[in-house]
Parts: sequence; structure tokens; C-alpha cells
Amino acid sequence: MKKFYITTPIYYVNAQPHIGHTYTTIAADCLARFHKMNGEKTFFLTGTDEHGAKIEEKAKEAGMDPQKFADSVSEAFKKSWVDLNIAQDRFIRTTEPAHEAAVQKALQAMYDKGDIYKGEYSGLYCRGCEQYKNEKDLADGLCPDHKTAPEQMSEECYMFKMSAYQDELLKKIASDEFKIRPEERKNEILSFYKNEKLQDVSFSRKNVKWGIPLPWDVSHTTYVWADAFLSYLTGLDWDGGSEAGDWWPANLHLMSKDILRVHATIWPAMLLSLGLPLPEELFIHGFFLIDGQKMSKSLGNVISPDELVKKYGTDATRYLLMSATVFGHDGDIGWEKFNEKFNADLANGLGNLVSRVSNLLEKNEIELDFNPNGDKDLTEAYGGRMNELALDDALKILWAVFRKCDEELTKKAPWKMTEKDEIKKTLLPIAQDILNSAKLLSPFMPTISEKIVKQFNAKQIKKSEPLFPRI
Ligand code: MSP
Repeated sequence: MKKFYITTPIYYVNAQPHIGHTYTTIAADCLARFHKMNGEKTFFLTGTDEHGAKIEEKAKEAGMDPQKFADSVSEAFKKSWVDLNIAQDRFIRTTEPAHEAAVQKALQAMYDKGDIYKGEYSGLYCRGCEQYKNEKDLADGLCPDHKTAPEQMSEECYMFKMSAYQDELLKKIASDEFKIRPEERKNEILSFYKNEKLQDVSFSRKNVKWGIPLPWDVSHTTYVWADAFLSYLTGLDWDGGSEAGDWWPANLHLMSKDILRVHATIWPAMLLSLGLPLPEELFIHGFFLIDGQKMSKSLGNVISPDELVKKYGTDATRYLLMSATVFGHDGDIGWEKFNEKFNADLANGLGNLVSRVSNLLEKNEIELDFNPNGDKDLTEAYGGRMNELALDDALKILWAVFRKCDEELTKKAPWKMTEKDEIKKTLLPIAQDILNSAKLLSPFMPTISEKIVKQFNAKQIKKSEPLFPRI
């Protein structure tokens, strides 16, 4: 049986979950549910990234012990995932003792192999990214993602011999043995490999206390990215040794462009050093802009996942986010767009269609015999888009069916008919189309899909409460 192991990034606990985290996690959930629906053995991992300078600093600002601080924000992520009906198989936290022990074991192996050596790092560091920066990475001296000046650092540390893996990784990326999509993201990484080349990277911090101590020198803590990457393995109960188990390698790491470079350099280099297979694919989705601007607290345009769920409900929120932009590209969102789409696609679209058809069927006491096999062409077209990770396209395919049903209904006007047989002949194919599409909708809108499928999978269909009250 085919297996499918998918991950989201593990999110920093320096701030509450926002719509960007929500977006990646819903997308991963839809994909995991799609693969489960197809009968594949599927494992879906998400979680929180809890160590490092940034979180140490935030906890201090809040006057809290870092562990207590991490506990509370990690809990907020978990709660948000419940509100959004995210069905992860495991939620990993990097402060779990088993994760910490595995990280120590793995780093010790890399040290014993000679891939980690004592050195010194002198250069720039962006605490927002928790990443070492070159002048080239900055815009007017500032980190382009965080708009802050990186700190000048100079400290004794342990370095990871990443440069040793330059040639092997370049080959694997170029040949798609280690796939990076979309294509322009792969090209961006290839040109990084060709022009800047892999440099050794500092893997420990002497001045950061909130981290996993290096087993051979406890005066250093582990660089937070080295710690974080290994969660993709410890989430599978890996113990830090040379056996990673049957779920590994990951079939898909989902993320956005802010963390592509580290995922395409440090992470696979660590795996090569540990003698473990590389993930099959990194897929990079776009960034959200709010009405054309970067989402930021100071602009006051932040949209929180909580507000969305309160206003539209869980399934509608999932739909609105997944259909908002082309998956894999940046896109614009905003309240006005959400309201319009909610009314057009959900309240007046799917909701109204289901209610009209079920009303007519009940009123005319019509019994239906469905073809239980569904619509092969539709299933294939939809599945093809899902396998290509064109999530918004897959939804468009389903909505084209709903719209066609609406048009049929309006054109044939069965409410004007008097012959029961004629009414049945008109409504049967429409009801069948609704049922087929509703089944395929389940990865995106699990509750709504189940409701419609239950309602339409009966001989005698009953009318229903509105699925989406108009806003
Ligand atoms: N902790 C690291 C990841 C470690 S993975 C081994 C981290 N965390 S993060 O909290 O900053 O999450 C970054 C990810 O959140 C992005 O890659 C993306 O998946 C998601 N997003 C955050 N903001 C986003 C937008 N504005 N738009 C879309 N997705 C965004 O980096």
C-alpha cells in the first residue's frame, strides 16, 4: 500500500497563531484527508518550535518562565487546530523530553563522525528568522522579512560542515531526486547553490540558554533550526539513531518561501550527514497580503483565524482560505473578498442549491436510485489537480459542477412541472451530481460534506436547514 507522510513547519511560539500558519496547516490537512480518502496509509505531522533566542526573549518580556510561556502558546496553536477541524496524527513539541534526547543523540553522531567541529562564528544574525545572514540577504541593511537590523555576532561555537555536501545536494536538487516546487523556487535554490555555495554553519549558541545542551559540551545549546528540523523525525518517534522507520522519508514538507532556503540546505545536509534518506519534496506556497499590503500589527490589518471561524464557521473558513489564491503563489485576501465569496459560492451557491433540490424532492415525495460508483471523470479531474497540489483548482472543478446544477435547475424549472416522472427525470441527475461532488469536497469541508452526503444518500431526501446563513 502507498504511504503518504506530510508535514507543516513547526511554528514558533513567540506569538499567537495567525492566518499564515492557519493557511499552511489547513492545506496540509486537506491533502492528508485526500490521501486518506483514497485509502493510502497517511501520517500528518504539525507542531511547535519552542527553543531559541527569540522565544527566550519573548518569555522574558512577558515575565514568564520560558517553558510556561511555550506551554501557553503551544496550547493556543492546538486549540486553533481543533477550531479549524485539523486532524493531525501527531502534534510534536520540541520541548518534549524524547525529542530533546533524540536531538542530542543525533548531534553526537554527527560530532563523532567529524561533521561538527569547534570554531567561531562572526557575522550577522536575524533573531526574527533565527538565521545567519549575509549582506546580500539584506535590503538597506535590514532583514527583508522582519524589517529589523540583524545583530552583529561573534562567538565561539560548534560548526556543521555543511560545505561538504554541496555537490551531492546540488545534483539531487537538479535531478528532482529531492524535488522543490513550484519550478521558480527550485531555480532560486539552484542559483543559490551555484553562486553562493554552501558554507559551514554555526550549530550552537553559547549565549542562548533556552535550548538543548550539546551532549559533549553543555556550555553550548543547539542552534534552534538544527533542533527544529529533527522534529520531522521525532514526530515519528525516531530516537536519534540510524533507523528512521517506515514513514520516513517524508513525501511532502509544506511551507512558505520564508523558510525555503534553510529547508533546501541545512536540512538535507543534516540528513546526508546522518545517513538518512532525503524527503521526496518541498512544496512552497505563497504569502498572503491583506488588501495589497503586508499583514502587520502596526497597519491594523491582521486577520486572526479566530475571527474568521467566529464569522463564517469552520468549514467555510477552510473553503475561503483554500480558494482565495492560487496555491503556490502570493495572493491578496481581505474581509470584503471573503464576504463576497461567502455569499456567492456558499450561501447563494452550494447552500441554496442543496436547499432548493432537497425541498423539491421532499415536496414531490420522489424516491431516487443513485449510481453508487460516482462520476469517474469528475473524480479523476479532481484527483489530478489534488495530486498536483493545485488545491484551488480542485475546488473550482467542484464548483463548476454546482453551478451547472444551478443552471440546469433554472433552465428546466421542475417546480413548474406537474408529472412526477418528469420531475424525477430532471432532479435525479442533479441530485447525483451534488452527491458526487459533495463526497469529493470532504477533504476541504469535512462537516458540510458529511451532512450533504448523508442527506443525499437516502432514497427519500428530506429538506434541510440552510447550510450557510447569509452574511
Ligand atoms: N519555526 C520555524 C519553522 C521550523 S520547521 C522545521 C518557522 N516558524 S513560523 O512560525 O515563522 O512559521 C513560518 C511558516 O508559517 C511559513 O513558512 C508559512 O508556512 C506560514 N506563514 C507565516 N506567515 C505567512 C503568510 N503571511 N502567508 C502565508 N504563509 C505564512 O519558520
